[in-house]
Amino acid sequence: MEIHQPLPLLGGLSASQFMRRHWQKKPLLVRQAVPAMVPPIERQSLFALAEREEVESRLIRYGKAGWILRHGPLPRKSLPSLKQPEWTLLVQGVDLHHQGVHELLQQFRFVPDARLDDLMISYASDGGGVGPHFDSYDVFLLQAQGSRRWSIGKQRDLRLQPEVPLKILAQFEPEQSFVLEPGDMLYLPPRYAHEGVAVGGDCMTYSIGLRAPAAAPLGVDLLARIAEAQAEALEDAPANTALHYRDPAQPAVEAPAAIPPALQAFARDAVLAALRDPDAIDRALGESMTEPKPKVWFDQGEQPPALTGVALDRRTRVLYDARHIYINGESFRASGRDAKLMRLLADQRALGTRDLRGASEDALALLGDWCEAGWLHAK
Ligand code: SIN
Ligand code: CO
Repeated sequence: MEIHQPLPLLGGLSASQFMRRHWQKKPLLVRQAVPAMVPPIERQSLFALAEREEVESRLIRYGKAGWILRHGPLPRKSLPSLKQPEWTLLVQGVDLHHQGVHELLQQFRFVPDARLDDLMISYASDGGGVGPHFDSYDVFLLQAQGSRRWSIGKQRDLRLQPEVPLKILAQFEPEQSFVLEPGDMLYLPPRYAHEGVAVGGDCMTYSIGLRAPAAAPLGVDLLARIAEAQAEALEDAPANTALHYRDPAQPAVEAPAAIPPALQAFARDAVLAALRDPDAIDRALGESMTEPKPKVWFDQGEQPPALTGVALDRRTRVLYDARHIYINGESFRASGRDAKLMRLLADQRALGTRDLRGASEDALALLGDWCEAGWLHAK
């Protein structure tokens, strides 16, 4: 991606200027970010997605009884009529299921893939919205169809209303408000208070959502992965290489139940040794960040007879670092020419005939395996 070129998507800023000036710092309103916007997915197809078991969807209504939330799958019959005001349908991860939406999301790859989450679509009838709230992550709100009024505020008071099935701010103090028309876009940094209300019916807003791991759960996940990898390595290690605790200097004790401090030190060293492997944490992170989203199942593919070109499945997650390539929760060591090829695949999400020319037998075999797993498709 050309990061220094001014982009209509960012209101004439280059990706690099946007990241410096706005990313995680301040909102940006862009008129006609996507000029002459034609929504790649129609209302009917969106409603059909909400009916599917493997698609995360929610129906939100506001009425006399307050906020009502229903989780999907949502049969078409369970949606209110289009004329009824004040309801919203949210469909998560539409990029995983629809090629046009997936392609739209690719325009946001000036942000690292490790930070991009998914594209959620909200469909709202007149006056529909999900209430004033804040999100923990950055978001690009692209108006795809109809109009929506956004009110935003940089408030400190982020207390929520109690006993409401949604996150609704107790006190919303909007500072600015604008109506977005098709093709307009609003970027908001994390924890920026906002509320979007459909103006007129048939309103579709695309939320390009980011993800950012929280330190404590990430740490727990990585520790579990490192422990599992160590346990596997131990199973393969010959028993006679085990290093047992030794205590030739242990004096006789009067308090036999007390744990010897030397044993505690030995245990601490054993744990730290498992973490000292410089690759262990990097590998655990790469595997964790490329775990497919929940409810993603790949259909078994076939080993192609010859590879002339390949494209990653929409649902495949790939990342890399200096020594590895990570794909759908697995890691592979790669170096030299093979590493270059795999990085190209990860960045372009596809390889052409020219890219594959001169690929090693090992690399071709690996790509063949990934085709068989349904992670990659031969062109
Ligand atoms: C919506 O599009 O209705 C909700 C998106 C958001 O506020 O983050
Ligand atoms: Co929001």
